[in-house]
Amino acid sequence: MTTSSLPINPVSAQKRCTIQSQEIGAETITLRCLDWDRDRFNIEFGLDNGTTYNSFVIKGKKTALIDTSHIKFQDLYRDAFPHHLDLTTLDYLIVSHTEPDHSGLVEEVLELAPQVTVVGAKVAIQFLENMVHRPFKSQTVKQGDCLDLGDGHELTFVSAPNLHWPDTILTYDRKTHILFTCDVFGMHYCNDLTYDDEADLLTPHFQYYYDCLMRPNARSVLSALKRIDGWDVQTIATGHGPLLKHHIEDWISLYREWSEQQAKVSQWVVVFYEEGYGHGNSLAQRIAQGIKKTGVDVERVDLASTDLHGLRELVQMATGLVIGMPAQSNRTTTATALSTILATAHAKQAIGLFESGGGEDEPIYPLRNTLQGMGLVEAFPPILVKQPPDSPLVQLCEEAGADLGQWLMRDRTIKQIKALDTDLERALGRLSGGLYILTVQQGEVSSAMLASWVTQASMEPLGVAIAVAKDRAIESLLQVGDRFVLNILEEDNVQHLMRHFLKRFPPGADRFTGIKVYPAKNGAQILADALAYLECQITHRMEVHDHWIIYSTVEAGRVSKLEALTAVHRRKVGNHY
Ligand SMILES: Cc1cc2nc3c(=O)[nH]c(=O)nc-3n(C[C@H](O)[C@H](O)[C@H](O)COP(=O)(O)O)c2cc1C
Repeated sequence: MTTSSLPINPVSAQKRCTIQSQEIGAETITLRCLDWDRDRFNIEFGLDNGTTYNSFVIKGKKTALIDTSHIKFQDLYRDAFPHHLDLTTLDYLIVSHTEPDHSGLVEEVLELAPQVTVVGAKVAIQFLENMVHRPFKSQTVKQGDCLDLGDGHELTFVSAPNLHWPDTILTYDRKTHILFTCDVFGMHYCNDLTYDDEADLLTPHFQYYYDCLMRPNARSVLSALKRIDGWDVQTIATGHGPLLKHHIEDWISLYREWSEQQAKVSQWVVVFYEEGYGHGNSLAQRIAQGIKKTGVDVERVDLASTDLHGLRELVQMATGLVIGMPAQSNRTTTATALSTILATAHAKQAIGLFESGGGEDEPIYPLRNTLQGMGLVEAFPPILVKQPPDSPLVQLCEEAGADLGQWLMRDRTIKQIKALDTDLERALGRLSGGLYILTVQQGEVSSAMLASWVTQASMEPLGVAIAVAKDRAIESLLQVGDRFVLNILEEDNVQHLMRHFLKRFPPGADRFTGIKVYPAKNGAQILADALAYLECQITHRMEVHDHWIIYSTVEAGRVSKLEALTAVHRRKVGNHY
């Protein structure tokens, strides 16, 4: 085996960039672009040890390049080619997924090798057609397809959508038993060692990467693992960090173990949307956010790019489904996806539907009728989108998601409430509080909730702390910097306000209809029937298991009746308000 390192790029003298090449199997080399000092990857994580972008060359009778690199390696990459590959004879460029850190030099390769055929998932090819400003030959591959390079290098493709890009494919070479996985099994770790010699050192980086990128799609990880189960994989050639060779079974077992653990979260929802159509993506994100607040897991899946086998598996396993209406014009792909969902969904699932607002949505009501006819439980009314989403619609989406999550978690909640009988819970129940209505007004969005876990928490400045459950509708409007009014209820004037604010409000409902209110200086609502109010601004927000502790300074306040008493809330048990 040979190793070589090309000189440091002078332009990047501060931020070291080098290229390392090494033979990793018969007629197969890796070109590892070492980005020694990269300290941040997108917004998702800080990096302590830089990263690498690995690409690979396989020379059978035909030659294939698997993935390119980050654009910052343009010069180094171009200089490295003559040593390893005559680009004029390159036959295939396999794009494992189109994230820019691996596809950043596709255009460069096409310029130097215009004869090349680009191989990728259907969505990857579509994406590249928009990204690359020149025509190119392409070949779309799906699960199980093969490409014979000759001399025994028969490549088999594995579809691995959502890991962590919708168009991810893995490539397995039957001759060398190398599985090329791009982001899957990767880690952000840059060193001179091509392989995983230092497993103990690497494990935390491997896990951190898994947690950030793969865990959110744990079920898709399990589906992909199932597809390679029993294969004789002797090297995992990842796109980031060292290649895995010495501890392959351990690395695969860790992925399986972590994903199975994650998949055990008994309640989870798939949110389908069509990427790039209308407002599907942003609304899906907001609904997913609402669902997650309740402790339910979510996987978001693009209807236009998912492979049907994976989709069927996801739909079978999910306990809830949310579908954003795709465009009618994109019928072939999304209509097949929709019929697959309909053929696989079952009566035990909760369902929610939303329009994408792209101007030519599939009609929502026929789909709703069919799903209800199949016995699925509608967790929130269809969300209709007639104009570009404004803040109330976005809030409505989040509340709808939370309603779906709460419905799925209802058994857990009831169990928690019923588990009364220990001394500890009774003792805790002797803690008492007042009764308060918290109100928020942000532009056109308003909300309110009844609270009793409220206490003064500082003297100078005057400050109060409130415990807000993570799945409350009002929660997303209580961020650091936000303002609210804390209405303090009066002992003899509490029942009708409690009845009103404890109603189950539909997503997006105006919670003040029928209640006498007037605005405080900070814009939030003062209840005319409250004994006193405090105008507050949030300065700290602390996560404590199932609640957020919201600490706020008090900016103004007033009492309406000096003689009246504050309502007191006495409880019997500590596991309920
Ligand atoms: C007496 C009483 C006190 C409550 N105190 C709190 C509280 O301090 N914090 C909280 O998050 N929820 C509290 N709740 C629950 C919420 O008021 C209520 O369930 C919630 O407004 C409904 O959920 P939603 O606003 O998310 O739709 C309390 C409920 C009751 C009955």
